[in-house]
Parts: sequence; C-alpha cells; structure tokens
Amino acid sequence: MNALDARREAAEVASSDVIVVGSGIAGLTAALGLAPRTVTVLTKTALGAGSSSQWAQGGVAAAMAADDSPRLHADDTLEAAAGLGQRAVIEALTAEGPERICRLIELGARFDRGSGGALLLGREGAHSRRRILHAGGDATGAEMVRALVAEVRRRAAVDLHERCDVHDLVTAGDRVVGVLALHGGPGGRTVFHRASAVVLATGGLGRLYARTTNPVEATGDGLAMAARAGARLVDLEMIQFHPTALETGRETVSLEPLPLVTEALRGEGSILIDDRGDRFMTGIHPRAELGPRDVVARAIRWRQQAGRRVFLDARDAVGEAFPNRFPTVWDHCRAHGIDPRRQPIPVTPAAHYAMAGIAVDANGRSSLRGLWACGEVSSTGIHGANRLASNSLLEALVFGARVADDLAGAEPPRPAPRAAQREVVWRETGPAEGDDKLDAEKTIRQLMWEHVGLERERHGLETVLDRTDRIDRSLASRPSAARNLLTLSRVVSAAALAREESRGAHFRTDFPDPVESLRHRLFWTYRPDEAFPLEAAGTERRAGREIA
Ligand code: SIN
Repeated sequence: MNALDARREAAEVASSDVIVVGSGIAGLTAALGLAPRTVTVLTKTALGAGSSSQWAQGGVAAAMAADDSPRLHADDTLEAAAGLGQRAVIEALTAEGPERICRLIELGARFDRGSGGALLLGREGAHSRRRILHAGGDATGAEMVRALVAEVRRRAAVDLHERCDVHDLVTAGDRVVGVLALHGGPGGRTVFHRASAVVLATGGLGRLYARTTNPVEATGDGLAMAARAGARLVDLEMIQFHPTALETGRETVSLEPLPLVTEALRGEGSILIDDRGDRFMTGIHPRAELGPRDVVARAIRWRQQAGRRVFLDARDAVGEAFPNRFPTVWDHCRAHGIDPRRQPIPVTPAAHYAMAGIAVDANGRSSLRGLWACGEVSSTGIHGANRLASNSLLEALVFGARVADDLAGAEPPRPAPRAAQREVVWRETGPAEGDDKLDAEKTIRQLMWEHVGLERERHGLETVLDRTDRIDRSLASRPSAARNLLTLSRVVSAAALAREESRGAHFRTDFPDPVESLRHRLFWTYRPDEAFPLEAAGTERRAGREIA
C-alpha cells in the first residue's frame, strides 16, 4: 500500500526509528539489540505468546561440546539443505551461535544441565553430534521467550503494542516507510506507524495447511505483506513437514493445531512402528528414525496410504522417565488418554516450518529499501530445501541480532515521509472473519494439504492455482488472515509447480529425482493479477545479495 492510501486508511499516524513486527525469538532479539533507538514492537498477541518460538519443544542447536565444532555443525546443516544451502550464511550461523546462546544465558535463560552443572546436549535427526540444548525438558522455546520478554519489558526505549494486527507494509516508491496496523481487534482503529526501517519477524505460515503443528497465529502475514509490497521472495516451494505430530483423530481442517511429539524422543532412541509392530525406518534410511525429516515424514505417509497407523514407541527408550523428561508431550498425550510409558504414541506428519520466505542477505536486508526480515518469515539460505532440526531457534537468535547490528550501522534514520498536514480522519475498520472467509480458509487449507503437501504433482498444483484464482476476489480486498492465506497458497503452489524435480522437502511424484541443473534457489516477485502469480527474479548465482 502506498503512503497516500495508508494515510487515507489510518485513524492516526505514529512515528518511531524502527518498527519490529512480531514477538518470537527473532523479533524480541532484534528489538533488544536496537535499543536505545526508539523501537516500536507490534505483536498480534501478548508479547511472546502465540509465536512458534514459544511452542518450540526441541531445542536450540549449537556446537558447544568438546567433540563438536561450528564447522561440523555447518557441514550437517549444508547436507540437510539438499543442495540449496548457502555455505557463507550457514558458517556465520554456526560460528556465532554459541556466543549468542551464552548472551541469552546471561540474560537469565535457564537451559537444562547435568548434576555437575554442565549444559546437557541432546541429539536430533541428521545431527552428527550431540549439540541440542533444551530447557524444561521439552519447553525450550518458552524458556528462551520468557528470558527475552522479561528483558524487553525492562527497556524504556521499546514501545510495545500488543494484540494489534499489522496488515500491510506502506511504501513510497521502492522504499518501505512503515506499516498499517489495526489496534483493538475488529472495529478497532487503524494506525499508520511510520519509521525509517521495518523489521518483519512475523514467523511462519503453518495455518496454510489443514494439518500443522503451528499456533493458529501462524498465518504467514509477514510473507504475504512483503509479497504484496513487491519484495523478492525465495524457496517458496520449500515447506517442512514434521514427521511426528500427535494423531488426535480430530477433523482434518480443524483450526486447532496438532500437538508436536518432539524429535528429541527419536534422538533418545524411540522408534517408529506401524500397527503390526513393524519398525519400518531401518529399511528406508541408514540413520533410520534419525534420517532427514522429509524422508521420515514421507515414509510415515506411505505407511498411512497403505492403510496402516503409525506410532512412536518410547516405552524402552524413555519409559518411566517420560513425565520428567518430556513434560509438554506428556501433557498432550495425557489430554488424549495416552500413557506413553506403556503405549506407543499415534503420530502423523504435519506442516511445521517454512524454509520459504522473504529473500534476505546475511544481515537480514530484503530487496526493498527500509525492509529487514529475520526468523521464519525470512529466507537466509541457511535451511535450503530442508531445515536441520533445532536450527530455527538458533537462526532467530543470531539473525535477530544481526539485523539489529546492521541497523545500528545503517544510514542514520531519516524521518519517514511526513503525513499530509491535514487532519487524519478516524476510520473504523475491521478484518472481520465472516463465514465466507472461514469457508474460503477451510478450502485453502484442505487444498494445500492434499496437493501441496508431502507429495505434489502437476495436476494437483494446477488445481490449487485454478481453484484459488476463483475464490471470491473480495477476499483479496480487505485485510484478514484469509487474505494472507489466499496469497500464500497461490505463491507456494506456483513455486512448487515451477520446480520440476524433487529436492529436500519438495517432492514431486511426477519428477521424483533431483535434477542437477535445478540445484539452485528460485527467486520470485508476486504478480497478484496473473493466473501464474509469480515472476522470476533470478537464482542465487545472479541475485548476488543473497550470498554473503
Ligand atoms: C522438534 O522438537 O521435533 C522440533 C524441533 C525443530 O523443529 O527444530
């Protein structure tokens, strides 16, 4: 939206040096690093709540053990990324990770330690060393968020606005000059927040899928806004499916997410079996249950397609220690009448993480002046086609801080273009989620799960593009979660259609093998009015800025 329209829309105009949208680990870290500049944090829920960070069970990976090194961590990350990982940014991540974690510990984050006081390090899929820190057993994200929220609340320079919906970036030419946000829910007031820099840290897009481990707030707002504003996007087809969400048996398109059954359980030796007791992963990957996530998730899906149910059996590996070691999963299991000490846990794959994102460089800069992004909404090139478990919290920590450092050294904040010197009229507006929007959303989520999920093929992808093109255009004209999901369903399916090969999380049944000439990232810009809604914006070889 341009600045003139934004002023027409808005009831108020507010100014600050920098706006951070989102309050997961990436947003909170960026906000902390930016103070003492005046930072406005805009967040959809209460600070830290409703973010995927808050829910993260499996921990944060960092090379902190004597037998480990940033180099080994980088090698594992690159291998998991299936040919699309960018070595320079990965090495920055793994080298800076331990130091960033130490700083978080200084801020008060309490990671699990052994009886001698040393940090306990766990193992997860595709990691060659024990390097995963946990907190509260399986409540790592919540502890990291707690420590960051406490610190952010202490900082006078941070102006917090909770429960406000940012729905559009505001641009002047090719520069982002602020955001438009609805405060106070439907019927509330719209504010044009101006700033010389906007940092999007809005998290992922799990709600795009009928089955997801993500909180309901994960509606891909930042990615959709950036798409509409013309930012360069990348790896849009790369969505990671977690192999083990709790199979609750509830209606597939329910808004309720499926509880995660953390990969750390497999790290501790729990095994996958089907309802005949067959341990099937040993015949599929040399690392069996600890193989790459996409391989394990697809193996489960194929079992399900063959009419079998799949379970994670933690009876021998964890047994009586379950309630203490994995209290979050324990609570979810008990809520569904399962005792994982005595019974295998029913599991199913679910959408979990977007490698797709706003294309950013090693400092979080996007292709639009004035716009930075960090955390899941961004795509740095670290995760490539398949994220290594527990690298996302680390990326949020490291790149939240990198964005702040970059902004500290960036051109001095210029006042954003001033609003016209006339009274800005109050305008009552509300992204009401009427029945039509909910129906459209249900349709989108089901279509995405069926055709743009663990397995994709041309006809299914074209069906999604065709059906979403015909969803009432009025949905696209007003701010709402459904509008963002509509935008994202179109760009993700189009990118999946364009990549005619299988690589990492992107599996095409009609092109089941990787193609060497496609071993590069695909950059796009959004074309809202076209049947194929993407325009090619280069590969990393030509894009330049994406590789540090
Ligand atoms: C998990 O605990 O299995 C999730 C960790 C992650 O996605 O990094």
